[in-house]
Amino acid sequence: MNHFELRDGELACEAVPLVRIAEAVGTPVYVYSTATLERHFTVFRDAVRGLGRPEPLIAYAVKANSNLSVLKVLGDLGAGADTVSEGEIRRAIAAGIAPERIIFSGVGKLEHEIEFALKSGVSEINIESEPELDLVARTAERLGTRATVALRINPDVSAGANDKISTGKASSKFGIAMVEAERVYARASNNAHLRVAGVACHIGSQIGDLASIEEEAVKMRGLVERLRGEGLIVERLDLGGGLGVPYFNQPEPPGPDRYAAVLARVLDGLDISLSFEPGRVIAANAGVLLSRVTHVNIRPDGRRFLVLDAAMNDLIRPAMYEAFHDIRPVRAPAADAALEPYDVVGPVCETGDTFARDRSLPPLAAGDLVAFMSAGAYGAVMASEYNSRPLVPEVLVHGDQFAVVRPRPTYDQMLAAEPLAPWL
Ligand code: LLP
Repeated sequence: MNHFELRDGELACEAVPLVRIAEAVGTPVYVYSTATLERHFTVFRDAVRGLGRPEPLIAYAVKANSNLSVLKVLGDLGAGADTVSEGEIRRAIAAGIAPERIIFSGVGKLEHEIEFALKSGVSEINIESEPELDLVARTAERLGTRATVALRINPDVSAGANDKISTGKASSKFGIAMVEAERVYARASNNAHLRVAGVACHIGSQIGDLASIEEEAVKMRGLVERLRGEGLIVERLDLGGGLGVPYFNQPEPPGPDRYAAVLARVLDGLDISLSFEPGRVIAANAGVLLSRVTHVNIRPDGRRFLVLDAAMNDLIRPAMYEAFHDIRPVRAPAADAALEPYDVVGPVCETGDTFARDRSLPPLAAGDLVAFMSAGAYGAVMASEYNSRPLVPEVLVHGDQFAVVRPRPTYDQMLAAEPLAPWL
């Protein structure tokens, strides 16, 4: 459920018509709903609440949408943060998320980032490999501290919507191989500069079937039991993120309730403290990308191009993953409007700048507004200035109010970011 609905024939975010935002801020612009963010977080939290002991840590995956206001909304509800860079840790702290609720993940953490994480007092560094284990231990020793870590294990489970976002297969770059897990865990546990809290995994994103979740949980439970059988202490199990979301007329993935039910069954009696790293399931359907039609270009062969002012640099998912985003006209079409196929494209100079081919839409004309739905996760965070287009702005709605939570840079600001080489 989300809070983008028609009001008096116009698409609105909560009580704010999207037309008003387009007029005030210009397009393209991302628009987020506070109520949807809050709802998604509380639904997830309530679903997993009874699992493990004490209450699970829900470390929102900052990479999905790292806008400071979004982080503040979630942090105020008790969310922690799953971070993958010093920048993300800084964002989470700036949004008021306590370091004790921050997890530092990622495959190639740099020494200065590890140092920053240790000095900030993050809850746990999820270690992805033996070389990284040594780097974290050396950094902790240098700082005269002890690093709390978990070992990210690669459980060799295939999951996720496509190969680019599947992370749990043995061939992917992530985590320590299951066959080495016990040896590395024992080695880490013997290191005076490390406190090994437990194990972690994350098998992919936009996961649509519970079978892979179950396989992951079964394998991780087995590992926890083997480690404990060897006398090692395993207090925490981080199950990562990955739960899929409905991207309109796509098969509906299982929701947090069914996800939690599988975990409750598989992990029953394990006596462990759990953490989760949901990103997409919290943010995707809490945001839209609002764009205006620049032209409708009809070719002699009848092909219609809907040329928008948003482009692949603003929303890369269709170009990068062939991802489907529902595209809705902001003004509801007449009930008897016939649908027509459009190729929906942006102005960037490559054919890859195509959001959809042969998409059935009601008649649209230059100046009309459209909304890309489910764009709150992996939308603005993956935007760029390609073609020297100013970075797309972001707006947060709360009831009948809205605020620009990242302004569109001016052209002067864009150019000022690049000092000329002194010899030029
Ligand atoms: N934890 C870790 C360690 C991750 O790598 C990720 C996502 C998450 C949690 C959150 O996963 P989620 O709950 O959002 O599925 N850009 C791609 C998605 C990449 C996901 C990367 N890792 C897309 O637009 O589909």
